[in-house]
Amino acid sequence: MYPVPVAGVRELLVTSGSTMAAAEVARQMSEGARNLSLSGHVGFDSMPDQLVNKSVCQGFCFNILCVGETGLGKSTLMDTLFNTRFEGDPAVHNQPGVHIKSNNYELQESNVRLKLSIVNSMGFGDQINKEESYKSIVEFIDAQFEAYLQEELKIKRTLHNYHDSRIHVCLYFIAPTGHSLKSLDLVTMKKLDSKVNIIPIIAKADSISKNELQKFKIKIMSELVSNGVQIYQFPTDDETVAEINGTMNAHLPFAVVGSTEEIKIGNKMMKARQYPWGTVQVENENHCDFVKLREMLIRVNMEDLREQTHTRHYELYRRCKLEEMGFKDTDPDNKPFSLQETYEAKRNEFLGELQKKEEEMRQMFVMRVKEKESELKEAEKELHDKFDRLKKLHQDEKKKLEDKKKSLDDEINAFKQRKTAAELLQSQAQQSGSQQTLKREKERKNFF
Ligand code: GTP
Ligand code: MG
Repeated sequence: MYPVPVAGVRELLVTSGSTMAAAEVARQMSEGARNLSLSGHVGFDSMPDQLVNKSVCQGFCFNILCVGETGLGKSTLMDTLFNTRFEGDPAVHNQPGVHIKSNNYELQESNVRLKLSIVNSMGFGDQINKEESYKSIVEFIDAQFEAYLQEELKIKRTLHNYHDSRIHVCLYFIAPTGHSLKSLDLVTMKKLDSKVNIIPIIAKADSISKNELQKFKIKIMSELVSNGVQIYQFPTDDETVAEINGTMNAHLPFAVVGSTEEIKIGNKMMKARQYPWGTVQVENENHCDFVKLREMLIRVNMEDLREQTHTRHYELYRRCKLEEMGFKDTDPDNKPFSLQETYEAKRNEFLGELQKKEEEMRQMFVMRVKEKESELKEAEKELHDKFDRLKKLHQDEKKKLEDKKKSLDDEINAFKQRKTAAELLQSQAQQSGSQQTLKREKERKNFF
């Protein structure tokens, strides 16, 4: 069971009087408790059973994120871990970026129901430029935290039957190169380590020799430490599991082999991978760490992974998000800050900002209007100047044409005068010509 969210407690305190008084009452109640012995059976020793029954009735949820390059055996390992075949389309590996795909399943073992989500980072490591590969994974994890936070902040919360999609564990598949971690692995794990419990695993461990495997494991761990990558440590504070968890921490990263193929070994059917030179038994601890992984992930620490997700990773996300929104627990004098005070401070801040924005926008508007006005005036002046210029040009042109017309008219008149004079001269000449002809005719007649 998760603790009641702090926001809920605060609301209760605010409504039941002053925050300080309520906190003081709670402190006195917890400090002043006296130890008493019972003289008969009361029955509250059934509390653990009640809790178990309630949890079994509600069912559990567990969300696994598988991150690793294409074809490292992620799907096969999931099938092997849960002894089933999760249907799933083969991943597409020619996409421009990493694409997150979540599949939900309901499993039942005895009377325990498990809602299992397997989230795959499809196309991880397929791109030439891998700089942004971690981004969509981080965004997906944050989106699940955000959804939970939104539910928590609602007035009507339904957290008891909320479908929790927060990632409880990230199985990070490392390629069995035998050399060192790739920069893609280091960058991605570094980006994820404050958001999710990372369990690094060496995939396809049957492709690496026993001696090389030991050196590879040491190399990986030292690289993780030197790069400050925090991986999930199996908890050693609960004494019932402290020993096994302590031992298993020393075996990290687990070198696993996956297979759903069953082969008859002796008189038993066993999950194994068969090669021309022999058989790798998945559940044989001398062959690989599959059993260790299953033990740690499912049989011993599943609840701790869920709890760590809530109390560590989600809490960090929630704190950062609320601080970003302006919520604080204490004021600058270290006095508790109530939700109402925060709300009012934030409201005043918001109103102040709104007023400032409004004033800025008003000033901007006036400035823009003035600018536009002067632009228009300038344009108007330019138009006037242009008009004057054109008018003058037109007048000059008109005058020139009129002058030309006048000179043409003068020329026409002069021409007409010359023409009339010429015509007159011509008719006079014709007249005198015809008189002379008559005279000559007369003289000729007289002659004969
Ligand atoms: P994508 O989802 O496409 O990225 O691949 P994946 O990581 O889910 O790999 P998948 O489980 O599909 O396995 C890819 C191939 O590797 C298959 O041929 C598997 O049989 C093989 N394979 C899976 N696990 C192992 C293993 O532990 N060792 C070896 N040698 N091969 C394995
Ligand atoms: Mg797959």
